[in-house]
Amino acid sequence: MKTIQWFPGHMAKAMRMMEDNLKLCDAVIFVLDARVPASSYNARLADMVGAKPVLYLFNKADMADGGADAAIALVRKSGKAALGVSAASSASLRPLTAAMDALVAEKRERYAQKGTTRPMRFLVAGIPNTGKSTVINLLSGGKKAQVGDRAGVTRAKQWVKCGTAELLDTPGTMPPALADQRLARRLAYVGSVNDDILDKEEVALALLEELWAKYPQRLTERYAIEGGTPLEMYEALCARRGFVLRGGEYDYTRGALALLDDFRKGRLGRVCLDSADDLKQAGLI
Ligand code: G4P
Repeated sequence: MKTIQWFPGHMAKAMRMMEDNLKLCDAVIFVLDARVPASSYNARLADMVGAKPVLYLFNKADMADGGADAAIALVRKSGKAALGVSAASSASLRPLTAAMDALVAEKRERYAQKGTTRPMRFLVAGIPNTGKSTVINLLSGGKKAQVGDRAGVTRAKQWVKCGTAELLDTPGTMPPALADQRLARRLAYVGSVNDDILDKEEVALALLEELWAKYPQRLTERYAIEGGTPLEMYEALCARRGFVLRGGEYDYTRGALALLDDFRKGRLGRVCLDSADDLKQAGLI
């Protein structure tokens, strides 16, 4: 499979902005995709945040299975703060604000002893498409501050109130760590690497192989796939869905798009593709 890469210029710019924003904050909410928590982590975060507390937020819990809960337990056991949420649901607001409070309790206490009572400031960070904007919306009640765009007015950082805390209204976007291509592929499945740089047919083949290893019955139920090589499974999918071109050849492109769409929309059920070993490999535990 073609190597999944990130454009170096984009990467440098994203990291610089993230560093600038970090300096303004007391703590970080690092948003992971609960379906691929190791793959959606970037260990460079640890260097960048230094001693600032981090909450590892396993988002999209509504699309993840028990594997995500096991991963959260392992991350907690390693001494980190972790929480599973579905940022798209308002039911996640209370557990999230409680976890944020706990994260900065010590620092707030230290400030109080010095007679300072300024609000604690948070940065919501993570790789693309993990749900950072959705988390900011949830926390701000959708009342994002308007950015002044009058001529001559510097685009100031905007803070949104969230209980006693404040939140930077722009997410800290980090590039994904793509050194491990096995994990990088999983980011392709969930849509966290730009589809334009991917060969969707290769992604589909790899996804079929992984799903067959872990959730075979789902492929059987949806596409009548009964096993075989990844290519045979791919062709069974195309046959089942009627993706056949005029000359009788399979329409592999439509097959790939249908599979990725089904997977991303949760029609293949709740999943967690990353194992405990993957969490270690990614540096999350
Ligand atoms: P980002 O800022 O980190 O790039 O991510 P963003 O919040 O834009 O979310 C990316 C996609 O993930 C969005 O879907 C969003 O609705 C979805 N999402 C975020 N949190 C959750 C969650 O907890 N559960 C589920 N199931 N989905 C979530 P989209 O298809 O790109 O856009 P749209 O359909 O919402 O318009």
